[in-house]
Amino acid sequence: MEVRKLNPAVGAEIVDLDINNITETEFGCLVEAWDSHGGLLFRDQRLSNDALVDFAARFGELEAAPVMENGRTPVPGYPEIYVVSNVLGTDGKPIGSLGAGEAVWHTDMSYLENPPDASMLYALEVPPTGGDTWLAGMSAAYEGLPDQLKVEIRGKRIKHDGTFNSGGFKRAGVEVREDPRESIGAYHPIVCAHPRTGQPALYLGRRRLAYVEGLELAASEALLDQLWAHATKPEYVFSHSWRVGDLLMWDNRATLHRRDPFDADARRIMHRTQIKGATAPLAA
Ligand code: OGA
Ligand code: MN
Repeated sequence: MEVRKLNPAVGAEIVDLDINNITETEFGCLVEAWDSHGGLLFRDQRLSNDALVDFAARFGELEAAPVMENGRTPVPGYPEIYVVSNVLGTDGKPIGSLGAGEAVWHTDMSYLENPPDASMLYALEVPPTGGDTWLAGMSAAYEGLPDQLKVEIRGKRIKHDGTFNSGGFKRAGVEVREDPRESIGAYHPIVCAHPRTGQPALYLGRRRLAYVEGLELAASEALLDQLWAHATKPEYVFSHSWRVGDLLMWDNRATLHRRDPFDADARRIMHRTQIKGATAPLAA
């Protein structure tokens, strides 16, 4: 197996590895690559639901899938698998979440006190074009912040909203509050230390209904806009064009991700697992 860097700020491809047959030595190398790159891509895999869940569980305890927009439980018998799909079921409702539109920059489930450390997305069906997934490296983004902004955010926390998912859909059972100070969510430090490497990284969650604790609303909005404009600059990101059998995993403590829109008449079916956060995000 070989590790090939995808972008200076984030991501590596693992070449020549069959996830169904990983030795302990190979797994050791994977963990090393995982700690240093924040995102790992594996191509040409053939994974059953069991194999996907088993592989994810080698990285840590799994989190149950969040409630989907359609209020359904995702895959019968696999409470850990979250379905990301625009495909309609026999009842005319989507079988998964996020539709076919853009999914804006975010990190997964940061509205929880203990968000998942990592997510793994496996492609079962992909559209001919569009639907690319982008990662942004938040350690590099933190390092690259102007000094004055680093000072401004020192010791501060962001409120991470739990009302809307990244596709802009409201989560089932949540009431919409337009004021970010009143919506549901959790507070986390803006600069977090990676739980395994100690590396500081920007931890932004998602922009919509975010709020910087203790600031006037207008000041909070202005600071968040600056941080988001910086964190998603081209030098920190790469995009991945999917083929069936690709698996992309990202470290939610060290990256942001987003998805391009695609033709709503095309089919895209992805299975996601999420690895539990060992701790709440730690201040750097
Ligand atoms: C996710 C997600 C984007 C995509 O599964 O958490 O944001 O490309 N998916 O489907
Ligand atoms: Mn996501």
